[in-house]
Amino acid sequence: MRFVFSATLNKTNLTFSSTHGRKASRGNSGIMHRYRYWIPPITLDLNVWEQFEQKFNNTVKFKLETNLLIADFSKLNFDISNLSATNLTKLIPKESIDYIYTDPPYGQHIAYLDLSTMWNAWLNFEVSEQTKQLEAIEGGDLNKSKQDYTELLSASIAQMFDVLKFDRWLSIVFAHKDPAYWDAIVKSAQSAGFEFEYVNSAVQPSSTPSLHKRQNPLKVLSGELVLNFRKVRNPRTIAITKVGTDVVQLIKQVAELQIVKNSGASTEEIYNALIPKLLENGLLSQVKNQLDDITPLLREEFYFF
Ligand SMILES: C[S@@+](CC[C@H](N)C(=O)[O-])C[C@H]1O[C@@H](n2cnc3c(N)ncnc32)[C@H](O)[C@@H]1O
Repeated sequence: MRFVFSATLNKTNLTFSSTHGRKASRGNSGIMHRYRYWIPPITLDLNVWEQFEQKFNNTVKFKLETNLLIADFSKLNFDISNLSATNLTKLIPKESIDYIYTDPPYGQHIAYLDLSTMWNAWLNFEVSEQTKQLEAIEGGDLNKSKQDYTELLSASIAQMFDVLKFDRWLSIVFAHKDPAYWDAIVKSAQSAGFEFEYVNSAVQPSSTPSLHKRQNPLKVLSGELVLNFRKVRNPRTIAITKVGTDVVQLIKQVAELQIVKNSGASTEEIYNALIPKLLENGLLSQVKNQLDDITPLLREEFYFF
């Protein structure tokens, strides 16, 4: 019933806007698609009971399906905890975990807790002051700085290192245009003791670009990169293999290769090829210090449209 109630609430609030050209009830709340408490110029009061009924029927359908697929699996093999990643060792014994896959917030992209206020109130979930303090985001109601964000992320990665067994992997999903964030993640992981394996970083494409992406195709990245780190007893520090490499040249070469390979390349394809290349060459911090955004540089050299 919580699922039913939660899904109903998404449609029955003032920030709901219908998708143009579709049935009135097709759409989403501003909180979900604009990541803001945005009220559309034309608001719409959908019939609450109809929405509730529809969500109820959908939920019954999906429960029937998942019951068949997973049955009692969840009772035996599944555990969900809601706690800050900065406090993992309070719950999980050290060196007990085989693999970690994590998808942290991407800087100031989404203020999750602020945007969940309505749901937390309606579902009667308490959000403590400490939970807000520990939320790893930039901005939000507490107006957190980039430094607050990277410190929280770094504290979480250090906790992940503690709970992971030796010779096991941590995968971090991430997307950001500013190289400083990538650098912060890799540095945090390395200072926790992880070894970064650039060779097997992988692109996780996005099948449905967000509205934000559609409105700002060159500025917003869609799709993420999965960075893999290994907990080893003697991590090697990344060797700066090509000291003196002209960073700008490298960026242009990587971009050119992507463009030639695919007869054109999107901003994210270039980033996804570039970030591992810069990490591999130990050049990411240099880029971070020199350039916030490489699109002007690409614009200089290539045809952007
Ligand atoms: C990019 S989203 C993950 C989305 C998820 N992969 C999904 O598909 O629904 C980042 C998540 O990290 C959570 N988060 C923020 N600070 C956290 C912290 N200190 N500990 C644990 N999770 C945190 C946010 O609430 C948000 O749900």
